[in-house]
Amino acid sequence: MSKYVLALDQGTTSSRSILFRKNGKSVAVAQKEFPQLFPSPGHVEHDPEAIWKTQLATAKNVLRKAKAKAGDVAAIGITNQRETVVLWDKSTGKPIDNAYVWQSRITAKLCDRLKAKGLEPMVTKKTGLVLDPYFSGTKIKYLLDKHKLRARARKGEILCGTIDTFLLWRLTGGQVHATDPSNASRTLLFNIHTQKWDDELLKMLGVPRAMLPEVRDSSGDFGVTDKKLFGSEIPIAGIAGDQQAATFGQGCFQPGMVKNTYGTGCFLLMNTGSKPVPSSNGLLTTVGWRINGETTYCLEGSVFVGGAAVQWLRDGLGLIKKSSDVEKLAATEPDAGGTYLVPAFVGLGAPYWDPYARGIYVGIERGTTAGHMARATVESMAYQTADVVKAMAQDSGLRLRGLRVDGGATTNDALMQFQSNLLGTRLKRPLVAETTALGAAYLAGLAVGFWKTQKDVTSNWALDREFAPKMTPAQRRKGLAGWASAVERSKAWIKP
Ligand SMILES: Nc1ncnc2c1ncn2[C@@H]1O[C@H](COP(=O)(O)OP(=O)(O)OP(=O)(O)O)[C@@H](O)[C@H]1O
Ligand SMILES: [Mg+2]
Repeated sequence: MSKYVLALDQGTTSSRSILFRKNGKSVAVAQKEFPQLFPSPGHVEHDPEAIWKTQLATAKNVLRKAKAKAGDVAAIGITNQRETVVLWDKSTGKPIDNAYVWQSRITAKLCDRLKAKGLEPMVTKKTGLVLDPYFSGTKIKYLLDKHKLRARARKGEILCGTIDTFLLWRLTGGQVHATDPSNASRTLLFNIHTQKWDDELLKMLGVPRAMLPEVRDSSGDFGVTDKKLFGSEIPIAGIAGDQQAATFGQGCFQPGMVKNTYGTGCFLLMNTGSKPVPSSNGLLTTVGWRINGETTYCLEGSVFVGGAAVQWLRDGLGLIKKSSDVEKLAATEPDAGGTYLVPAFVGLGAPYWDPYARGIYVGIERGTTAGHMARATVESMAYQTADVVKAMAQDSGLRLRGLRVDGGATTNDALMQFQSNLLGTRLKRPLVAETTALGAAYLAGLAVGFWKTQKDVTSNWALDREFAPKMTPAQRRKGLAGWASAVERSKAWIKP
């Protein structure tokens, strides 16, 4: 009897592997950071070999820590930083170039040109996305142009994929080239209504169909691991992008249920059931997951920089030694002293979509301290989330009632309290904070019968702590008004 499901969580800043038991608790965790590459302004890359090495090392490590063998693992689930894309040579398996990361703005001008041609309404209608450099498609085009690879890609000699696909290819020893609809729906090439790669979109970006992975259900058969890797074969049975996986791991199965993740960025997703809900307020319509051919859709608000702003205080400014130190520094002041940090370091995502916005810190006076700045940095996660919640209420016609939260920054109680205050809503933080990995584990475990039904998932969910709002409406309005004018000042900072 297999005791565990293994989740591979390939994130933006680190690779993690976690072994889960049937009760949804983790037995062991292994994590490894890898380098962030910034070769030119606004551009971000990762070395695909570093991604592979850290992911494989953590997977082996977590098995060792739990004294588990491949045979103890019922299945592997993969979850990944989304939109980041790699091209590789099919015959050698070697990447053509570094992975172009979701945060990269390298295709901003290309997006402008496509918009100028009036293509955005068609793109949005089919993909649920907007023409922003965030998504993979324009980066695939960029890489094909840069390396003059279109002819070879057309012959199927060059393959592409998001990180799930790249890892799956490597894990199966080059046997399986596939992805799931939650990842496919972030490429600008996938029609979320027909659940197929779309000819008009492929043509728009000059991407040959032959280089794209097969799109399979998020929970189901993705092949088995190469025997050489873990001693014997392990089935790979689940794939989802990190934010959709977290939504699944939080048990948001009913339409209207919402989760927000506070990690590198902040991502709010609402389950909208079997209906894709279009947005008129700057949100995305995206696939949550597809199981047994049935698609669950979500509305999503993507905020590019959340906890990454705290990392900037650490690495860019040297104000703190580790991210959690921000709590102590912020606690030296009762509030942000009227200052606001807009962390538009890679432009603004939802609901503004301005690739030319850049970060600002405003309202500085003689008495402003590092403590104020730390507070403003933490509060920026809550303010950006409030913008997204407002858009979500307008799009869905539903008032938010309770929000499930997860991600590394949710250990920050002051942030959670401020967020609850700002939204005027209760926040629920679960005991298992690793909901991204857990969601991937659930998708895989459900496919192989390790868990029987989604009810098993729901009954595993347990509350750690709830936060209730304590702020007057007048205070809330004042804070939000200051934030809104700060955001205005950050927009269109660099000229195309
Ligand atoms: N106490 C804290 N207060 C505020 N932010 C914090 C705190 N502890 C960690 N963080 C932030 O949380 C983030 C890490 O969270 P998490 O591990 O969930 O990130 P992630 O998004 O999963 O990372 P990846 O993008 O690699 O997947 C970092 O950006 C870090 O700065
Ligand atoms: Mg993550």
